[in-house]
Amino acid sequence: MPPLARPSRPRLWALLLTALAISVLYDVEVKRNLKLVYEFTLYRPINRDAPPDYTEMREWESRLPQHDTELPFPEGKTGRYVLFANSRAHQAGWNNKLNEMLFNTWLAHDSNRAYVFHDFIWEKTHYPWRTPANASNPLTPLTALVAGPSAGAPWDAGDSAPRAVTEVYFDLVCPKHTRRVINTRDVKPRLRHADGSVIFDAWRRLLSEAPERCIEIEAATPEEDAFPETFDIYFWSGRRSVSLWDAFKDAPVSRLLRTSPTVQAAVDANAHLFQPARPHTNTRANPLESVFSIHVRRGDFKQACLEHAALNSTFYNWNLLPFLPDKFDPPPPPPGITLLKGTNTPENEAAFLARCLPFPEAIAHKVREARREYREHTGHRLDVLYIMSNDGTTWLDALKETLRADGWNRIVTSRDLRLTAQQKDVGVAVDMDIGRQSAVFIGNGWSSFTSNVVHRRLIDGKEPISIRFW
Ligand SMILES: *[C@@H]1O[C@H](CO)[C@@H](O)[C@H](O)[C@H]1NC(C)=O
Ligand SMILES: *[C@@H]1O[C@H](CO)[C@@H](O)[C@H](O)[C@H]1NC(C)=O
Repeated sequence: MPPLARPSRPRLWALLLTALAISVLYDVEVKRNLKLVYEFTLYRPINRDAPPDYTEMREWESRLPQHDTELPFPEGKTGRYVLFANSRAHQAGWNNKLNEMLFNTWLAHDSNRAYVFHDFIWEKTHYPWRTPANASNPLTPLTALVAGPSAGAPWDAGDSAPRAVTEVYFDLVCPKHTRRVINTRDVKPRLRHADGSVIFDAWRRLLSEAPERCIEIEAATPEEDAFPETFDIYFWSGRRSVSLWDAFKDAPVSRLLRTSPTVQAAVDANAHLFQPARPHTNTRANPLESVFSIHVRRGDFKQACLEHAALNSTFYNWNLLPFLPDKFDPPPPPPGITLLKGTNTPENEAAFLARCLPFPEAIAHKVREARREYREHTGHRLDVLYIMSNDGTTWLDALKETLRADGWNRIVTSRDLRLTAQQKDVGVAVDMDIGRQSAVFIGNGWSSFTSNVVHRRLIDGKEPISIRFW
């Protein structure tokens, strides 16, 4: 040992330990944030065919009738507009973005401004095709994913609110120098812990009262706010949206939300898969009305479930609506024990996993119970089961065998759908639409996919007994 090394050793250790602690903390924090956003939205079978071409759809978007500068106020060149550029400052899965898009459109409507819609921007690792490292992020036109006022469809007859427009048109009627730019750092900090109704009202007032015709909402820097959306992941993954449900469900943005023609075509093309094996007396015109759908996530999902346990997370957004069955109350710490923030006991972790990542036997049990309860309630017997899953392994085959023993005449999985390139691109939305139309749907309470299916089912008038959670 060289004599000089000795005196500096303790300091060296202190330095090393500090560096290690900082890097671990940083890593945990960054990963935690990323997981919350992404884990529930991964859908990444890598396709070998070419990604879709959307030239025609983009032309269709550009020809929407509201793209006319001569239209009278509040449309046209004297009209009022708002671009939420903050909502695309970082990438997240479609369902996280869908929530926000609907709320931003709602804000635009209620402040008599046209919502400026834009493509969905993919995180490269989520995209169903490989993207070169030096290529920009893949884009999907909004009209491929959804239809309704957020994507430019008209409001109710007699509603004078301006219709949504594309960004190309916005650039034309609101050139950069004419825009008032509002940075989220000037609005969000004081609303950080506020209830949804308070947040909504603050933005609505700001956008209504601003005299400027053209407004762009700009994101704070990632250092200031890693999730600069108007309504961010911390908002959606807690109870603060629930107070807005009654107003939201009746709001035109929600009532007029529709399935996109691309998704509709995919569902129609695969409808034969869902025909009951033995048609019975209550055969309905839409075969999906006899389908029982389940949303089963696997693999990388385990990590997300463990994080929900560590953070003691409640269900997500509309999955928390008090009138739905199968509530989950995050369990308390053992009496007299104070847990470190971000940790939980092994018993509580098990309670989370049982609901977030159930075993095949537990899945089969829940499906059996929910099927029986639905039959008792409605008299309808369901015999086609649809399994939506990101699992590409034999685990899914094993689950199918377990369920088949319960007398399902037909079991279909996401892998059985035959889809064109465009339809694969919007595959998440295709599964969601099948979930929407099914007689019964069982989802994952922590999932944004499930929450958005719950929303559409409730708007369609489906009964709470048909909306279940593991
Ligand atoms: C990306 O890299 C490939 C080869 O590494 C190159 O041929 C291509 O031109 C690059 N593309 C861009 C947009 O830089
Ligand atoms: C988790 O949160 C709930 C409230 O949602 C609370 O009642 C419970 O005590 C919390 N559990 C732990 C372990 O902190």
